[in-house]
Amino acid sequence: MFSELHPEADPATLDAADPLASFRSEFAHDTEDLIYLDGNSLGRPPRAVLDAVRRVTDEEWTNRLIRGWDEWIELPSRAGDALAADVVGARPGEVLVCDSTSVNLYKLAAAALDAAPKGRRVIVTDDDNFPTDRYILAGIAERHGGELRVIHTDIDEGVDPKTVAKAVKKDTALLCLSHVSYRSGAIADMAAITERAHKSGAKVLWDLCHSAGAVPVELDACGVDLAVGCTYKYLNAGPGAPAFLYVREELQTRLRQPMWGWFSQTDQFAMGPEYLPREDIGRFAVGTPTVVGVAAVEAAVAVTARAGVAALREKSVRLGAYAQALFAEWLAPLGFELASPDDPLRRGGHLTLAHKEAWRIGQAMRARGVIPDYREPDRLRLGFAPLYNGYRDVHEGLSRVADIVRSGEYEKFPAEKGQVT
Ligand SMILES: Cc1ncc(COP(=O)(O)O)c(C=O)c1O
Repeated sequence: MFSELHPEADPATLDAADPLASFRSEFAHDTEDLIYLDGNSLGRPPRAVLDAVRRVTDEEWTNRLIRGWDEWIELPSRAGDALAADVVGARPGEVLVCDSTSVNLYKLAAAALDAAPKGRRVIVTDDDNFPTDRYILAGIAERHGGELRVIHTDIDEGVDPKTVAKAVKKDTALLCLSHVSYRSGAIADMAAITERAHKSGAKVLWDLCHSAGAVPVELDACGVDLAVGCTYKYLNAGPGAPAFLYVREELQTRLRQPMWGWFSQTDQFAMGPEYLPREDIGRFAVGTPTVVGVAAVEAAVAVTARAGVAALREKSVRLGAYAQALFAEWLAPLGFELASPDDPLRRGGHLTLAHKEAWRIGQAMRARGVIPDYREPDRLRLGFAPLYNGYRDVHEGLSRVADIVRSGEYEKFPAEKGQVT
């Protein structure tokens, strides 16, 4: 399947045959020489997103002032519907753009635990889940009379469905996992795991931060109950852009989230004395949406929708397979090891490499204009964002890494760890 993606392949020829190549010019770049391999943390800015932000500030806010709310009020559900249709496989009215992933996770997990029958007080997650997920779930378990059951996951191979199946039992209210592991990029089998958890009567909440815009997601088809995700990685909506939440339509009126803000109130502007939550996805909102951010999300989703998640995934898998071939040829002999599943189809948008000098190598890469990110214990994540990364980025990026290690250039950088972004 990837036979043409060998180390001797000419990256320019591969780029010339790339059906998504023209999207690169839709992104703002300050310099072509920078090899940006961190779209898995913060995507590059699409010009359409920068335009949307300017439109909100320079036209809508400046000219319409408070009257802007006539349109802005619909923005979180309109952007949510676009995400539902084009990114996460959901129906209209099932997705809302609001708050951060952490806050949305708190709202949905707490609602699920509160709604569970008396005998179901356990939340199951894994020890490789993203820290904010683990901390928030621990807090909910403590404050809502529950218990957190943390299963072990191999940090390179990802969640094992059999281990999950053993842990989700009659006492389980909620299973919460990341669809794509933040560290290894391993993809969890959403359909099988969700089905198995449902057989035990538990609800399932997926974190889609590393999936949205990178891998196809079919929430409705997989029977998922709840999901959250961010928009600043592969969706490119900008630093701190608002996140999204998904609640399966049939569940919406059965759940009550813990933050009873006025944006989830029926007939909000009646300013009534009593809290009567809305009967739709708006029930999961809290307060005033960040209009500039949600407008950025809407514009960003439109770029992804034009490319199509299926086409993005195809290119992403190919970029990852090409990187893996170059890793085997150039980097494995220099002490790097693969810290992601070996099969490109089992990985999301990034490839993770382990090296005992990863921290110093990462600093040297930045100095040489290649941006990865570092994750504990000794890993470099290389993200290949198919909207703007090409085969030349992969080739040039990995070639600079090989050079940095071969020449010992990384030894000039401090071994002591500083701030990690
Ligand atoms: C899987 C996952 N979940 C949650 C988060 C954090 O979400 P936020 O800080 O936007 O609330 C991240 C951030 O990178 C993440 O990768």
